[in-house]
Amino acid sequence: HQTEKIRLTNMHEAAADYYHQILLKSDMAEESLNYFKKRGISLEVIREFRLGFAPKSWDYLVKQLLSQGYTENEMEKAGLAAKSSRETYYDKFRNRIMFPIQDFRGKVIAFGGRGIHDELPKYLNSTETPIFSKSQNLYGLSNAAGMIRQKDEAVLMEGYMDVLTAHQFGIKNAVASLGTSLTPEQGKLLKRYSSNVLIAYDADAAGAKAAYRGLEILQKLAFRVRVLKLPEGMDPDDFLHQHGYQAWVQLAAEQALSLVEYKLQAAMEKYNVHTIEGKADVVQELLPDLAKIKSQVEKDQYIKLVASTLNISIESIYADLRQIKGIVS
Ligand code: CTP
Ligand code: MN
Ligand code: MN
Ligand code: MN
Ligand code: MN
Repeated sequence: HQTEKIRLTNMHEAAADYYHQILLKSDMAEESLNYFKKRGISLEVIREFRLGFAPKSWDYLVKQLLSQGYTENEMEKAGLAAKSSRETYYDKFRNRIMFPIQDFRGKVIAFGGRGIHDELPKYLNSTETPIFSKSQNLYGLSNAAGMIRQKDEAVLMEGYMDVLTAHQFGIKNAVASLGTSLTPEQGKLLKRYSSNVLIAYDADAAGAKAAYRGLEILQKLAFRVRVLKLPEGMDPDDFLHQHGYQAWVQLAAEQALSLVEYKLQAAMEKYNVHTIEGKADVVQELLPDLAKIKSQVEKDQYIKLVASTLNISIESIYADLRQIKGIVS
């Protein structure tokens, strides 16, 4: 209930402060601070996102939170501590750089922790708790909310480092869907701030799959979506460090694909368009989306694009479109 949730949130706030102070002040954090430096993350971003370090220890956080009046039972419930076979409690996050996950108001409700060597898993995240559900939160939302409203567009990325680097390079309307592809709940949350989204997922197979699913979810929620295609193998963090802000702006302006363009590209890869049947399959896949376009000018342009891409006639697409009329709203 309510008081329990408030205590859990306050505990996360206390843990975030603790991890943050350790990163900035403790000798134990030297390596992790260097890691951030190596990855080009500034002190300003470290402060803005309250990044931290969970030391390599058995129970530093447990002791700290005990001294602040929290019980071990509460720590376990919060996913910050776990019980050992000897009935003692130990820190869940050890020897990891810490990314506090905040709700839309900026309250810390969970953590992501990254190993700075090759530890597995690469990221360890808080489990589901009474105050945290991964599918209902977006990383960086409280930091980005104002700029999402101002620019009337959100940039949707995959991960923690992408969002940090984006903010550092001045893309302050960036948020992350926390690895998995976007959920409907995350979409609804975004919708409070804007109806325009630029998807900038990693340019790999997993990212492409997640972008496609995210696109469908956002479309259902009546967003206007564009998809950015980064050079193969790169994520926004890589791209910005390698090519900089201007290149990003140019890519977004010139190369971001609209829904139909993106689906056309995907369908071109899915079907064998060297065959007549393959061309028909591509058209069939795009018809529902073409039918939904309200602006006649826009619809006309897209039909021309599909026709020229497949080397078929515009008239045949219009004819197919008439056939599905009434089936699709
Ligand atoms: N993720 C996760 N658990 C993992 C791997 C990934 O929760 N074991 C989530 C994290 O939120 C991560 C995002 O998925 O930020 C994207 O994963 P990935 O692209 O693999 O990592 P990067 O964010 O690129 O991290 P880095 O640049 O540090 O490798
Ligand atoms: Mn990825
Ligand atoms: Mn690919
Ligand atoms: Mn990535
Ligand atoms: Mn990365």
